[in-house]
Amino acid sequence: MEKAMKSLFLTLAKNRAANRWAKRYGLRLGARRFVAGESIEHAIDAVRKLNASGRMATLDYLGEFTSSEEEVRETADMCLKTLDAIHRSKVQANLSLKLTSLGLDLSPDLCFELMRRILARAQSYRLFVRIDMEDHAHCQPAIDMLKKLRGGYDNVGIVIQSYLYRSEEDVKELGAQGVNLRLVKGAYKEPASVAYPRKEDVDDNLIRLIKLHLRSGSYTAIASHDERILSEAKRFIEEEGIPRSRFEFQMLYGICEELQLKLVEEGYRFRVYVPFGVDWFGYFMRRLAERPANVWFVLKNTFK
Ligand code: FDA
Repeated sequence: MEKAMKSLFLTLAKNRAANRWAKRYGLRLGARRFVAGESIEHAIDAVRKLNASGRMATLDYLGEFTSSEEEVRETADMCLKTLDAIHRSKVQANLSLKLTSLGLDLSPDLCFELMRRILARAQSYRLFVRIDMEDHAHCQPAIDMLKKLRGGYDNVGIVIQSYLYRSEEDVKELGAQGVNLRLVKGAYKEPASVAYPRKEDVDDNLIRLIKLHLRSGSYTAIASHDERILSEAKRFIEEEGIPRSRFEFQMLYGICEELQLKLVEEGYRFRVYVPFGVDWFGYFMRRLAERPANVWFVLKNTFK
């Protein structure tokens, strides 16, 4: 049953009609728990609150399925405005983005040009930009884009997903080049030809990748709510004497609040991924897929 629901949510996440419908419908269906709001102002307010409790943030202007050049340019413009807002409001935050929302499928050259503009603006504010990882078909194009961008900018990093078989090689290669990586389990529906089907293998691989990247000396963002992963990472960090300035923990907005605050209390660098914008449906469906029990929370909020 849980597997079927997971599969249904991940299929819906990729459904263009459902995404379009949700955009018109506004932030409802309980999505507010996971999405900070529809405007930059809402997002900055949410970041201020997080900063007040010792948590940094990474802002993500939600956007998927951008299919025209006009939409892609609008998304790039929103990324620039988000960087301006972070700088103006002096909040502790950086930016996360998805390359498909910046035209990776439409025109890699346009995507490269827009990314250069975003990285240049971020650099002028001394801000960092993280490329989120999408489904496996976009993994190699995203890594290629990262490498090309690093020819001119060092304020950019990427995400690697432990469910993909290829990830150990990617972490070894990118770690040797000093790339700042966010390590996650992976949130998309992937076939067994490219990704571990068993959760235990995904979990074990995440621990392996975290250790590998921490050992490389490159900056590591450990992004998980899984207490087993967190305690294993902490144990390894202590054992190896890895300085706290070389890594941070990250979690998603609205998830495991107590655990977030506990890590802050323990003195670790901590960052919350804060999504905002009208294009919230795909993101929301992936959060439901991770924990189908969330559906009860959603139904309760929809009908109360
Ligand atoms: P796991 O799924 O095993 O969950 C462990 C525990 O955390 C659960 O038992 C539950 O208590 C809690 N939990 C997890 N998800 C929850 C939810 N949705 N609602 C309520 N509780 C929940 N993925 C990707 O493919 N590309 C990316 O770029 C990113 N970026 C990213 C950034 C950050 C900061 C985080 C934390 C995660 C991502 N992810 C991602 C998502 C990631 O791949 C993964 O799907 C989720 O983090 C869930 O995996 P966990 O490691 O938390 O473990």
